[in-house]
Amino acid sequence: MRSHLAGGLDSTHIGLTVRLGGWVHRRRDLGGLVFIDLRDRAGLVQLSLSPEWTPPAVIERAQAVGAETVVLVTGTVVRRPVAARDEAMTSREVEVHVVDLVVVGPAVTPAIPVARKENEDLAAEELRLKHRVLDLRRPELQHNLVLRHRLAQRARRTLSELGFLEIETPILTKPTPEGARDYLVPSRVHPGEFYALPQSPQIYKQLLMVAGYDRYFQIARCFRDEDLRADRQPEFTQIDIESSFVTADDVMGFVEAILIALWDEAGEAVTGPFRRMTYAEAMERYGIDKPDLRFGFEARDYSGGIGPDAAPFLAAAGRDGVRFRGILAPDAATVTRKDLDELGRSVKAAGAGGLVWLRHGTGGWEGQGVKAVGSGFAGTLAGQPGDLFLGVVGTDSVTTPAIRAIRDTLIERIKPAPIVKHAFLWVVDFPLFEPDPSTGQHVFVHHPFTSPHPDDVPYLESDPGRCRAIHYDAVYNGNELGSGSIRITTRELQQRVFKLLGIGPDDQQVRFGFLLDALATGAPPMGGFAIGFDRVAMLLAGAPSLRDVVAFPKTTAARAMFEGAPTAIKEADLEVLHLEVRRA
Ligand code: AMO
Repeated sequence: MRSHLAGGLDSTHIGLTVRLGGWVHRRRDLGGLVFIDLRDRAGLVQLSLSPEWTPPAVIERAQAVGAETVVLVTGTVVRRPVAARDEAMTSREVEVHVVDLVVVGPAVTPAIPVARKENEDLAAEELRLKHRVLDLRRPELQHNLVLRHRLAQRARRTLSELGFLEIETPILTKPTPEGARDYLVPSRVHPGEFYALPQSPQIYKQLLMVAGYDRYFQIARCFRDEDLRADRQPEFTQIDIESSFVTADDVMGFVEAILIALWDEAGEAVTGPFRRMTYAEAMERYGIDKPDLRFGFEARDYSGGIGPDAAPFLAAAGRDGVRFRGILAPDAATVTRKDLDELGRSVKAAGAGGLVWLRHGTGGWEGQGVKAVGSGFAGTLAGQPGDLFLGVVGTDSVTTPAIRAIRDTLIERIKPAPIVKHAFLWVVDFPLFEPDPSTGQHVFVHHPFTSPHPDDVPYLESDPGRCRAIHYDAVYNGNELGSGSIRITTRELQQRVFKLLGIGPDDQQVRFGFLLDALATGAPPMGGFAIGFDRVAMLLAGAPSLRDVVAFPKTTAARAMFEGAPTAIKEADLEVLHLEVRRA
């Protein structure tokens, strides 16, 4: 029906008769003249209707079309006077003199505007999600989804070239633990039995390695019933890989190749190898396992500077695991007293005794903390006028989150120029287990298939807290892009780890017997990774939310606003599924 895309016209098309189809973005009537901005996937072009070249019946028809009506038009491409060009228009060099216009898709008045005036705010997000089809017409979202498509194709191409095979794994599965709750699907033919939607293809990709497929990838949909945040969706997509006969270095090399290709696809030149840091170092220097290395503000242990005349709450520093940790921030004049009070309250809420702060004036260190730190402390701080020192005292479980909060505030308030634009980082040597704060029981930090560091295997039972995992996270500008590990590949070790996690032999057999049996059939060494694809697309699109790079996303309450899911189902349907709903 169309000869060209409206947004694709430029001066090379001048003089051509074209047939376009699209949506009426805006219409303006100026006496007998009608101007329509016509929008299609490629962008916008101005249609111009004038008694000079347009039949009167066509002008009359055009005067009646409302916003978002779908029209087919025929016209001639002409150069647009430079003075009349609208820089926001994709086809700004030309306009189309219309000789025919037919309405092919009438439209009711749109519930939310697609075309916005300059500086006009977007409608509230909930309203936009409810009217997603209209919102998806916005050029910004179209741009995001086009970019997402290109990134997916580039990932496929890159992995195929590296010898990875794209293999699909089931959606109706047995539970794969990744730390969230499962979405369950009742079986009609097996009363009382349920499938789980995969939290990730983790077990299946390991089974593929056991089966000899060597290098697997999948752009995989994952489902996790967890509390949602701006950077989480209940269903999301991973670029999921697994490979055999590899070391952690090999896997990190594959992931770097993919990420460099994806950034290149978005027009950003980045190079490898990415910097590496252990988990312990990241927590020590930045208070977080995904530090944003575009900025400095490193924490240090200042316990050694605390003298005998320090305040009693600081005097404990340096003993029994209590430390005085702080950040010396240059040029911190924009951090106000109010910010410091607020920060003080937040670190207190996190369990720290309070915030100690010192400001370097022209005459030396001054401020609330000067007396508390004691007379010798200032000498240990190599500060300059304008600097700010912020510190907290306590055990690491208290000071680490406080350091993170301090650093976040400093970055937000001081807004220092980034040291680099793209701060990629590998965080390695994560702990294998962490204690569950409510029960004290060991729980896995990532998933229970991660291999312990070989040096730490002897301590699995005696001192699980000291066991490191051969696990690596990819971090970019403070965002966790993905994670992966070398896997456990013997039945015996996998059973030991399950046992430590409180999964007894019977339960192991019921839940993971198929994996344990498979491992016993001859499993190669293997490792893999999953990149959060939505997150990557969001970051590369410069979008504020995952919802801006997903066509039909869910709200933070896990609702699909447009189609209206989840919904109640009829009694008869429940019966077929052998289900009964307990209503409060
Ligand atoms: P993990 O659970 O760390 O690892 O997930 C990998 C990456 O997926 C993204 N991600 C999410 N994105 C959007 N919404 C969510 N709810 C969500 N949850 C996770 C993150 C995360 O870094 N099987 C392992 C990988 C492996 O070991 O190979 C796994 O799934 O970017």
